[in-house]
Amino acid sequence: MPNRARRALLFMPGDARRKIEKGAALDVDCIIMDLEDGVAFSQKEEARRTVRTALEELDFGRSERLVRINPVSDDSSMWIHDLTETIEARPDGYVIPKVQNAEQVQRVAEHITRIERKNGWHDGDIRLLAIVETAMGFVYLRDIAESDPRLVALVFGAEDLAGDIGAKRTPDSWEVFYARSKLVLFAKAYHLQAIDTPFVGLTADDSQLTTTTEQALYMGYTGKLAIHPNQIEPIQRMFTPTAEEIQAAKVLIAAHEKQQDDGSGVFVHEGRMVDLPMVKAAQSVLTRASAAGIKVDG
Ligand code: COA
Ligand code: MG
Repeated sequence: MPNRARRALLFMPGDARRKIEKGAALDVDCIIMDLEDGVAFSQKEEARRTVRTALEELDFGRSERLVRINPVSDDSSMWIHDLTETIEARPDGYVIPKVQNAEQVQRVAEHITRIERKNGWHDGDIRLLAIVETAMGFVYLRDIAESDPRLVALVFGAEDLAGDIGAKRTPDSWEVFYARSKLVLFAKAYHLQAIDTPFVGLTADDSQLTTTTEQALYMGYTGKLAIHPNQIEPIQRMFTPTAEEIQAAKVLIAAHEKQQDDGSGVFVHEGRMVDLPMVKAAQSVLTRASAAGIKVDG
């Protein structure tokens, strides 16, 4: 199944109807209505109602409509209420936070499957995204990555992870680099999207946001969480190949095909050696472009 583009995913508190309305009107790949840490404990009920009504009433345009539930645990039934009280309004998927093992994803998936069957909905349409943001989550990353066919993305959460391991956040993010890198590797090994942690600075100058988003792109990430409407454009732009990149990729692929026809696997193109890995990288540029809605013929 070709994955849709998830370049920017904008969070908003589930009890903030005004922000949800604003978010729905934006040109953003995904909207995440939060029922977890962005909502006070006293507001959880209200937030579920607000999310449900928003899903029923608002036109979200092309945006994917996601809901973040509370963590899956035996000690709390919040996550079950989050699911059962919003699912009838047909979100496109759920985001599960603080995922530590495969079973947590599977329990959500089983719950959804029961509801889909009961309602006669198409099996498996509701997708899952798992935020990995605890030390234990990174220990069990492989199990999480292969936990369930509904899973489309692994999401990196740096703030919670730093808290969990006793790290102090720094502008360069070296303290979480191993985890940030590990998440991409495991996501790609299991054909999942890799979505980067949000940038929580809210200054008018977006150069730091640009730097960290560029890092994520260069590491192989396919998207990034956002917390403010101003972050959407810089993030979506960064994860969209430029016209020059697309053109260069096409030229390289065409040159490769010609060389293959002539019986040669490796060749020199514009002063550089080219073999299959570079061709695959060029193909992935075209894949990202198509996912972003850009026509790439041939
Ligand atoms: N989604 C949709 N709209 C948002 C938004 C968001 N995440 N963040 C801000 N807006 C809207 C505001 O409502 C405001 O519109 P208005 O003036 O017409 O009401 C406008 O954008 C400008 O907002 P601004 O004043 O710059 O921000 P703020 O001080 O009101 O809010 C935050 C700052 C951080 C509280 C807010 O951006 C937010 O709620 N972010 C998401 C937080 C979240 O969900 N966290 C959990 C996951 S990490
Ligand atoms: Mg968190």
